Amino acid sequence: MITFEGIEGCGKSTQIELLSKALVQRGFSVLVTCEPGGTAPGRSLRQIVLDSREPLPPIAELMIYLADRACHLFQVVNPALAQGKIVLCDRFSDSTLAYQSFGRGLDLELVRSWDARITCGRRPDLTLLLDCPVSVGLGRVARRPQLDRLDREGAEFHERVRAGFLDLARREQDRIKVIDTTRSVEEVHESILEIVLRKLEGVR
Ligand code: TMP
Repeated sequence: MITFEGIEGCGKSTQIELLSKALVQRGFSVLVTCEPGGTAPGRSLRQIVLDSREPLPPIAELMIYLADRACHLFQVVNPALAQGKIVLCDRFSDSTLAYQSFGRGLDLELVRSWDARITCGRRPDLTLLLDCPVSVGLGRVARRPQLDRLDREGAEFHERVRAGFLDLARREQDRIKVIDTTRSVEEVHESILEIVLRKLEGVR
């Protein structure tokens, strides 16, 4: 499983689509999916956590993201991996650590241990952390027609999340590759494709 992570407006959606096309062209069987919302129950959970105007306690927010992950692994990710597909997932456990721990302030070890119970130790083989300054990401998000509950958080929140992602990447340099997305879409795609093809070559 290859996961894409990063702050709002870092360019994940565009890059996942480009990578998926490039892999399919090379004959790989690919499944693109996302969290939260990769299943029918997950879409309801996504609405609760992102569309609500009501404040949610951080621990409740954590539980909703983990419930979404449990459904997603069970219904989508594990079956696709069992069929030998390459799963490209827009956000996974690193988002929970970055947002609910570094962003919201929940204890990192608590978030890690609850997540590990949910994932039963399923970890991404490779994580692409798409990184850009918060001002750049939020500038892109501001052009969207609708902002969700987390998009509307202040810049300091997103700075903590970005710092969290970079901290996780420093701790796990083999798995998490940091990609600078202040470059052109094509340049970013080329960097991602090179890393992914090297990884796939390694596991063949
Ligand atoms: P996105 O699908 O547009 O990336 O939005 C998902 C939002 O949910 C984004 O703000 C990050 C947030 N999120 C968490 O806070 N924790 C998580 O575990 C996940 C998967 C996402």
